[in-house]
Amino acid sequence: MDGSGRALSPGANALLQDALEGLSQRQKRLSPKWLYDQRGSALFEEITGLPEYYLTRTEAAILTEYAAELAGLVPEGGALVEFGSGASVKTRTLLDAGDHFAAYVPIDISANFLHQTAHGLRAHYPRLEIAPVVADFTAPVRLPPHLDAMAKVGFFPGSTIGNLPPEAATDLLRHARRWPGAQGFILGADLVKDEATLVAAYDDAQGVTAQFIGNILHRLNAELGADFDTGAFAYRATWNAALARIDMELVSTRAQTVSLPGARIDFAAGEAIHVSASRKYTEQTLAQLVVPAGWRVEQLLTDEDRAFAVAVLLPQ
Ligand SMILES: C[S@@+](CC[C@H](N)C(=O)[O-])C[C@H]1O[C@@H](n2cnc3c(N)ncnc32)[C@H](O)[C@@H]1O
Repeated sequence: MDGSGRALSPGANALLQDALEGLSQRQKRLSPKWLYDQRGSALFEEITGLPEYYLTRTEAAILTEYAAELAGLVPEGGALVEFGSGASVKTRTLLDAGDHFAAYVPIDISANFLHQTAHGLRAHYPRLEIAPVVADFTAPVRLPPHLDAMAKVGFFPGSTIGNLPPEAATDLLRHARRWPGAQGFILGADLVKDEATLVAAYDDAQGVTAQFIGNILHRLNAELGADFDTGAFAYRATWNAALARIDMELVSTRAQTVSLPGARIDFAAGEAIHVSASRKYTEQTLAQLVVPAGWRVEQLLTDEDRAFAVAVLLPQ
């Protein structure tokens, strides 16, 4: 039941269980996967164009420079399978260079956004099979069975791997290594750099990232009938050097109590909800993620400033 006594959909029920669990911890937390509803996905697209958000343009330039080589990892008649595909903008660089691909499989949790994107791709690439899969990649993703016979290359751009704790990142990579026909994996990862550049990328002057992270509270209100006063939570991005990650939090600006179906949650003034982390890597810490999953780093493609890396992984 939501706050006004209506039955919850299975999706909203999963959101509620996760929120109740996370908000009852000593360090309150919500999972970043709930950031992406239609509004969240659109806000993320806005972030990709912000001047402070060097990640998208840097990764896009690397993909453009090495497009032919990267597309060549997919054998004739094979499939490119993307995790967290969003608007599939950068992917088009690989699809344009991959006339020989038989299928493109975008996987995303944001269902409407994924289907809209797939519709646009079908119009643009009429000869390519576009096979979207709505799924949560923090659990093993089942691919359509008719793809079993196809060679596959995984693609995980956008530094999204950095949102996952190291063990979960390795699990995802291990799962993709075990797909029938797994040939390779293209992984976009952000690199450790100076604190000012990192914090600015996650706390932009226009406040778009603050809106994106704050969207999770709007979602709890809209989908569960919670009563968060969204104006009473301030956004904060901080660099944790010891864990090499940016932490994104919503900080309660006053003592307050919030109701969710089945619980009342107290917040002290200054208490934070941890919503997302974005881990930054070195060559060494990247290898520590991929090697236990059965991959080796064949090539690390970077820009001149070594701001961002696209790692080409091959089976060990
Ligand atoms: C940081 S954005 C990256 C989007 C795009 N790949 C890019 O590089 O611009 C993360 C994407 O992953 C999706 N996503 C986040 N958590 C997910 C999860 N647990 N399972 C499936 N998709 C998820 C989001 O909906 C979003 O499209």
